[in-house]
Amino acid sequence: RRHVLDLDDYSREELEATLESANGMAEVLGRDIKKVPALRGKVIVTMFHEASTRTRVSFEEAGKVLSADVINVSASGSSTDKGESLLNTGLTLQAMGVDTLVVRHPHSGAPNFLARNLDRVNIVNAGDGLHAHPTQALLDLYTVQSRLGQIDGLKIVIVGDVLHSRVARSDIWGFAKMGARVVLSGPRTLMPPDFVNDSLPDANSEGLASQVEVDTDLDRAVEGADVVMALRLQSERQRGGFLPSIREYIRRWQVNDARLLRAKPHVLVMHPGPMNEGIEISSGLAHGSRSAIEEQVTAGVAVRMAVLYQLNAGAGE
Ligand code: CP
Repeated sequence: RRHVLDLDDYSREELEATLESANGMAEVLGRDIKKVPALRGKVIVTMFHEASTRTRVSFEEAGKVLSADVINVSASGSSTDKGESLLNTGLTLQAMGVDTLVVRHPHSGAPNFLARNLDRVNIVNAGDGLHAHPTQALLDLYTVQSRLGQIDGLKIVIVGDVLHSRVARSDIWGFAKMGARVVLSGPRTLMPPDFVNDSLPDANSEGLASQVEVDTDLDRAVEGADVVMALRLQSERQRGGFLPSIREYIRRWQVNDARLLRAKPHVLVMHPGPMNEGIEISSGLAHGSRSAIEEQVTAGVAVRMAVLYQLNAGAGE
């Protein structure tokens, strides 16, 4: 594999191998001496054209634990500010011998465009527009497998602003390929149109509609759920205000203790972060014993180590 752009082109075997590799990386992180020389001499650039805390820091930490040289570039302060195109920025970094470019970008498809046009750089998608966030999905798979022992056969309920969620899109691919049943819930207005009716697929969800069920009634959707994942209500991507109102959203779709009474007793509560606490998820649940939200963040380092290692392995030292 040269690039990680989404999970749609991963086989189940490849997903399982990545989770197993992440397990090994978690063991490295658990030792007293954490640094290993696996990627010594490799250069990793993280190029974030959108805000991030978790993804950016965990990629940097992952690269450093593997002894790679990690360089962070932001849109602001780079020559993007002077109008340099994405392609010319990529070609410039390639000419400097960068091995792996980790890209977050507001435009869906920006990492795919770089992957098509650069021949000596591995591209990792760290979240592009509404399209995909594959390493978030990998760490979500890892967290569920670690906590519940398996993914195959589980009922995974993803709740909220699916329309604007690249995390949901990659999670659907990942959980479905691993044999889980994925159910989406939330307001109809926040579902991709082709998930809830027979309209033409939109460019960001083609093929996904066949992998999921939709039930806008959250109380019914959580029945027998093994995992309930709340998504952030993405106010910055909403045009024309919220539909429905925040008050209505909380009443019908907030993930909270009362709502989980119908889920399995071991139900795991997840959120990719950052959270609007008190809106899509109650504070008590977010920080309670059923929450795996901090474990998701911790898993991000091991999973991203596994991804960076897979892309750069063999061409090692
Ligand atoms: N989940 C996620 O991508 O978080 P950040 O935006 O903080 O990286």
